[in-house]
Amino acid sequence: MLDRLDTTLRVHGGVRLEGSVATHGAKNAALPIMAAALLARGVVRLRRVPRITDVSVMWSLLEALGARLAFDGDDGLLIDASNVATYRAPYALVRKLAASFDVAGALLGRFGRAEVPLPGGCILGTRATDLHEHAFRALGCTVESKHGYLIAERTGEHLVGAEIDFRMSSVGATKNALLSSVKAVGTTTIRNVAMEPEVVDLCNFLVAMGAKISGIGSDTLIVEGVTELHGVDYEIIADRIVAGTLLLCGAATRGDVTVTRCVPDHLTALLDKMRGCGVAITTGDDWIRADAATVTGGTDILTAPHPGFPTDLQPQMVSFLCTAPGTSVVEETIFNARFSYVNELARMNADVRVAMESNTATIKGGIPLSGAPVEAPDIRAGAGLVVAALAAGGQTDIIGLEYIDRGYSRLEEMLSELGAQVQRSSGVTQLVEPVALFETSAYPSVRTAS
Ligand code: UD1
Repeated sequence: MLDRLDTTLRVHGGVRLEGSVATHGAKNAALPIMAAALLARGVVRLRRVPRITDVSVMWSLLEALGARLAFDGDDGLLIDASNVATYRAPYALVRKLAASFDVAGALLGRFGRAEVPLPGGCILGTRATDLHEHAFRALGCTVESKHGYLIAERTGEHLVGAEIDFRMSSVGATKNALLSSVKAVGTTTIRNVAMEPEVVDLCNFLVAMGAKISGIGSDTLIVEGVTELHGVDYEIIADRIVAGTLLLCGAATRGDVTVTRCVPDHLTALLDKMRGCGVAITTGDDWIRADAATVTGGTDILTAPHPGFPTDLQPQMVSFLCTAPGTSVVEETIFNARFSYVNELARMNADVRVAMESNTATIKGGIPLSGAPVEAPDIRAGAGLVVAALAAGGQTDIIGLEYIDRGYSRLEEMLSELGAQVQRSSGVTQLVEPVALFETSAYPSVRTAS
């Protein structure tokens, strides 16, 4: 018998969410900052590190490179990279996490050479690396791809400051350009950089370690190379995507939800769109309240680099729009395969049509959703199914909770705080081995144990 472990989130929908819940630290800031710790001479202490599986993967990757890591209290993490002695990242770990490509810039900055598996594609679409390569070449490296690895190596004694002009905004390439240039000799000017809050957080972290970066938060970064970066104590910013997801969970149930310990300015695009649908939004220094007693209609969305509408909130927004009266149109401009979850939504009675050629979803909202067994294909699509399940009548079992766990630390506990009826369970599905199938010509017996 073959055993397959499935982790499931069971949701009893139709319960109005109400109350207040805190968001945790940002996944997309924590991962590159962990990679950046490879550049430090001395111990890096990080606070507000989310306890999510993507952080475990980055932990294992840094350990495989020779770093020592330890937990520090509830959400702290210590990283000592003094003993890292290899510039080659193992495929077994990198393949699990697109963000692990961030170690390329850090290894290059540290050793002048990096060998990192090419990201290829992922479930969301193709993952190109030309912008990363452009940055590495500008800094004086040769770059080649060999046997599935990207190999970058400096040609001279040092990486040398340069002008890097990106043809388009890329979060990943901006991070790698920063990580490889902070210790280069001379000045690097990086134009058309991604301005996501997590990129800003990486810059602030590097500055705290002794890097010299100006223009932080703008579309041009100027990096004056330094010879050494030191250990530091640093708190990761709030996860805006988790905050946005919780607000949309509440709004889909016509609830009244306040998310605390977040940065309202990081979510302006989402909050404007929610207001447009009739949700009453109020904000304070570090909280956002969304009272969705009256949702008047849908809205149109175009995902875009920050400060535009984040692609990572697209599936959750689509699910919310399924509950809003009228027709909404959502165009995805960042990834070419990010509507894969729509077939699962259809099983919950949603009316969403996807036009592949224009990467656009048209949502006919206001049709009651009904609970169904569904499967989460990736982190944010999984979160989108949670939004729909909370609004749906009856029970929804979302298989693939392990995907959601990659980006949300115990989502079911956060939702319970708001009154949701949600429950995590794990079950083993036993399948007959394929070889046995051919040998016996019998039908497989499938049995699920919880
Ligand atoms: C992207 C998102 C980020 C999100 C993350 C995980 C944007 C701009 N980026 O970051 O918000 O948190 O996914 O879902 O919203 N590209 C190239 N060549 C390259 C690099 C990228 O053509 O060398 C293209 C990509 O194919 C993509 C776009 O640029 O269409 C943005 O990619 P990038 O920002 O690098 O992706 P991530 O860093 O994964």
